[in-house]
Amino acid sequence: MDERIISPRRHADEVAQDTTLRPRLLAEYIGQERIKQNLSICVSAAKARSESLDHVLLYGPPGLGKTTLAHVIAHEMGVNIKVTSGPAIERPGDLAAILTNLRQGDILFIDEVHRLGHAVEEVLYPAMEDFCLDIIIGKGPSARSIRLTLPSFTIIGATTRIAMMTSPLRDRFGIVYRLDFYEPAAMEAIVGRTSRILGIPIESGGVATVARRARGTPRVANRLLKRVRDYAQVRAEGVITSAVAQEALSLLEVDALGLDDIDRKILQAIIDKFDGGPVGLETIAASLSEEADTIMDVCEPYLLQLGFLERTPRGRTATARAYEHLGRAYPQQTAQPSLL
Ligand SMILES: Nc1ncnc2c1ncn2[C@@H]1O[C@H](COP(=O)(O)OP(=O)(O)O)[C@@H](O)[C@H]1O
Ligand SMILES: [Mg+2]
Repeated sequence: MDERIISPRRHADEVAQDTTLRPRLLAEYIGQERIKQNLSICVSAAKARSESLDHVLLYGPPGLGKTTLAHVIAHEMGVNIKVTSGPAIERPGDLAAILTNLRQGDILFIDEVHRLGHAVEEVLYPAMEDFCLDIIIGKGPSARSIRLTLPSFTIIGATTRIAMMTSPLRDRFGIVYRLDFYEPAAMEAIVGRTSRILGIPIESGGVATVARRARGTPRVANRLLKRVRDYAQVRAEGVITSAVAQEALSLLEVDALGLDDIDRKILQAIIDKFDGGPVGLETIAASLSEEADTIMDVCEPYLLQLGFLERTPRGRTATARAYEHLGRAYPQQTAQPSLL
């Protein structure tokens, strides 16, 4: 498991905290304004027609609020939500068991939906499209298929890797939203909200500092806030000021832009070992003995967002901004010899 302080993936001890901090209604869900507006229209329309909501696909880097949003949707629709994940549904029979237990209007949340097996997907297609299940009874020549009708339901799928989804599966989601990193104002609102809920004494400068270093990711903001609170309690007078937050985060090796040791090592590797790139992610991962998955899901999206990395067909390159952030001189472009 990756337990880096800035990892947007959930640490094992954060399950209970998630329940306290998760917004329950759209109105409490901070940021992602366009998604909220579109969603509230879909929800109102479905409710007015007394229909189940169209299937929803949520994608984007970890920690941005996909699971939270799925629960918010269930709450707004006033329906039950059942939670599972791609790897948990091993056989078509597992999916059949889940689907036949759904009631009219229920939501089935499938996390890591890109990891569903092929045979399971085959069962899911008619279920999503026509709310029916084809079951084979018996074996050999006497085998026959019967069709079960299911109550209408909504699948909410979440993924960090939309590119790994098969297109037939992707096409069966009527509503598709990409969650983006949060704007600074939304990040501050999230840090402020969490501080209020957990009763953490914090000044506005402290809110801004934590928000700025949380890589646009609510899960990271909540985690940094808790570590900074510990620091304030032990080393300062308990109140998180801007200075206290900066000291605490420097001690945690989270820099002014929210990069940690691994992010910096990635940039350094590209610059020092691969002449600034282009270099493939797998190669970078191997050279650092890090998991390619972590680099792809966690580090790369944020480094791209900061404009520190560029994706080219031949791999990743470090930009001038990356050199600058690490205090390195950007190599002068060698002049192209003229052909004339
Ligand atoms: N829009 C939001 N407003 C406030 N808090 C949020 C928001 N989105 C996420 N969070 C917080 O961040 C944590 C991580 O969100 P989660 O839904 O688990 O992310 P994901 O499923 O995308 O990995 C949640 O526990 C929640 O407290
Ligand atoms: Mg999630």
